[in-house]
Amino acid sequence: MPMVVTDPRQAENPIVLANKAFLTLTGYSADEVIGRNCRFLQGPDTDQEALDEIRAAIRTPRECCVDIVNYRKDGVRFVNELQISPIHDDDGQLLYFFASQMDVTLRRQAADLLAAEHALLREVDHRAKNALALVQGIVRLSNASDAARYAAAVQGRVDALAAAHGLLAEGHWRTVPLDRLIRNVVEQHGLRRISIVGPAMEIDAGQVQPLALVFHEIATNAARFGSLSVDDGQLAISWQQDPQRVAVTLAESGGPPPAPQRKPGFGLTMIDAIVRRQLGGEVDYDWAPQGLSARIHIPPTIARHGPQA
Ligand SMILES: Cc1cc2nc3c(=O)[nH]c(=O)nc-3n(C[C@H](O)[C@H](O)[C@H](O)COP(=O)(O)O)c2cc1C
Repeated sequence: MPMVVTDPRQAENPIVLANKAFLTLTGYSADEVIGRNCRFLQGPDTDQEALDEIRAAIRTPRECCVDIVNYRKDGVRFVNELQISPIHDDDGQLLYFFASQMDVTLRRQAADLLAAEHALLREVDHRAKNALALVQGIVRLSNASDAARYAAAVQGRVDALAAAHGLLAEGHWRTVPLDRLIRNVVEQHGLRRISIVGPAMEIDAGQVQPLALVFHEIATNAARFGSLSVDDGQLAISWQQDPQRVAVTLAESGGPPPAPQRKPGFGLTMIDAIVRRQLGGEVDYDWAPQGLSARIHIPPTIARHGPQA
């Protein structure tokens, strides 16, 4: 166990004795440490709080135990579990300070890792619960008049969530490129007839799954009733961002004119709810004869990066 004895009756409370283990720990020779105050072990990361605690213990004097960042002679940083005790003579006069030093760097790293792991587990738990709540919403709210259609609708929506989830995992749950999210969600309808155009943008993790559902609903709606239900129909998805908002447009063309009965459709009602409640935005539709257009406006929590997508 590394140990030193210092003499507080001399100026600067210097080391008067250092054992071999202390020299091995710190990398200095005996000549380099005897006669010096121990503060030569400190450096840029040494925390003020630990120093205050040591100063108070020396002033009193009393015992103290602190973890303090120190540096070896070769500059390598270590966490020193330092225990200091005053030594008195029979009359209560202070004679020396005795200290033991222990390198607890690995223990500290393990504790930090454990704390990080706990934080990560809490976050994963929170996200898993969010995903489950979305799935429960889909199962509960999907139109259940026909069992086969119901199963297909639920499956399609859960697949869209899964596609979003995959991208989120890839992006370490921070951001996802908007063009990739759209492509992954709508590709089942054939990318040949769907154009995806806009500046490169990263979407915040919290927006990814709701947006995935929105894109899925609109593309599925187009495939069932609109432009993607005929061979020559197209769906153009584009977006832009200004400081106030992000505007995403999904415009159908070349399909049958939108029929009035499409207006109250369940999918569109769900889009409305998601855009308003989960994304804090707005959606409006243009039922033009050449095809339905949906314009979605959401707050600009999307960061803009890089060149055109
Ligand atoms: C016996 C003894 C051992 C000490 N060992 C260390 C040590 O290993 N590492 C360290 O950073 N400070 C150590 N210190 C603390 C410093 O010597 C010094 O008291 C501290 O830096 C606060 O005083 P200052 O403000 O004058 O620097 C030790 C102090 C004593 C009395």
